[in-house]
Amino acid sequence: MASVYLSRRVPGPVVAELERLFDLSVYDEERPPARAELLAGVAGRDGVCTMLSDRVDDELLDAAGPKLRIVANFAVGYDNVDLAACTRRGVLVSNTPGVLTEATAELTVALLLDLVRRVSEGDRMIRRDKGWIWSPTFLLGTGLRGKLLGVVGLGRIGSEVARLAEAFGMRVAYTSRGGPKEGAAYEFLAFEELIRTADVVSLHCPLTPETRHLIGRSELEAMRRDAFLVNTTRGPVVDEAALVEALREGEIAGAALDVFEREPEVHPGLLELENAVLAPHVGSATHETREAMGMLCVSALRAVLVEGRCPENAVNPEAW
Ligand code: DGY
Repeated sequence: MASVYLSRRVPGPVVAELERLFDLSVYDEERPPARAELLAGVAGRDGVCTMLSDRVDDELLDAAGPKLRIVANFAVGYDNVDLAACTRRGVLVSNTPGVLTEATAELTVALLLDLVRRVSEGDRMIRRDKGWIWSPTFLLGTGLRGKLLGVVGLGRIGSEVARLAEAFGMRVAYTSRGGPKEGAAYEFLAFEELIRTADVVSLHCPLTPETRHLIGRSELEAMRRDAFLVNTTRGPVVDEAALVEALREGEIAGAALDVFEREPEVHPGLLELENAVLAPHVGSATHETREAMGMLCVSALRAVLVEGRCPENAVNPEAW
């Protein structure tokens, strides 16, 4: 039986399936293992199931040793993995595409609605018992009908956000590094034009060296003063310090963030701002989705270690 290390607590049915198929060792905690514990945990394994907070690099691959065949990353994003290092060693890497599209898109829309209708702000006000009363000008927000949603990255999640936004009467435009996408139902705009004109800029591109700080000081300055920014992809796509400044100075109207530059740390400036809605990286956090993500990891591990084939969700099939 192949030996597999799982670096975090995951839904019960996923663990049961892994136990049925493999000699399994689990770091059964809500918090990540310390680096030394992770390195000890992967030693001598045939497969590992890692989380987005586990750095998979040469150090980890050395610690795992030459038996390692697959890293099943429990996330659709795999910016925590040094893909080139894995490929060089013939180690396959898999991710969890598709199954978190709806959950992440729903959370994006939830954060957007919260931001423009000031739901969390009102909640805080009630809890602080500041004394509130209905009035025609009290806690006014912004309606979405007719507003332009600018989607940065029209992949699975970006497309689903666009579809949901249309139900609120929003117009949609998108930008994409590769230029206009064949068959796309929305207007393509160059990145600069999209951030300059959109009422809401929603980020759905992966984190890569090219997209790190894609939204920084000059992009925030270029945005409309009444525009909103939503980030449910990866924190470092936004320069958090520049965002705090822009929100403080009223250069943009507000921001909703599910992800942060140095998770779980959050820039202290954000905590003081009423025009920032903050969520603790819960885009894919539904019972259904987390189980489905786990099952995709299981199927990738099974493909490589039991069936001897390359899994469909390998992101470096050339390593096979
Ligand atoms: C992912 O899968 O990349 C998400 O960020 C995890 O929720």
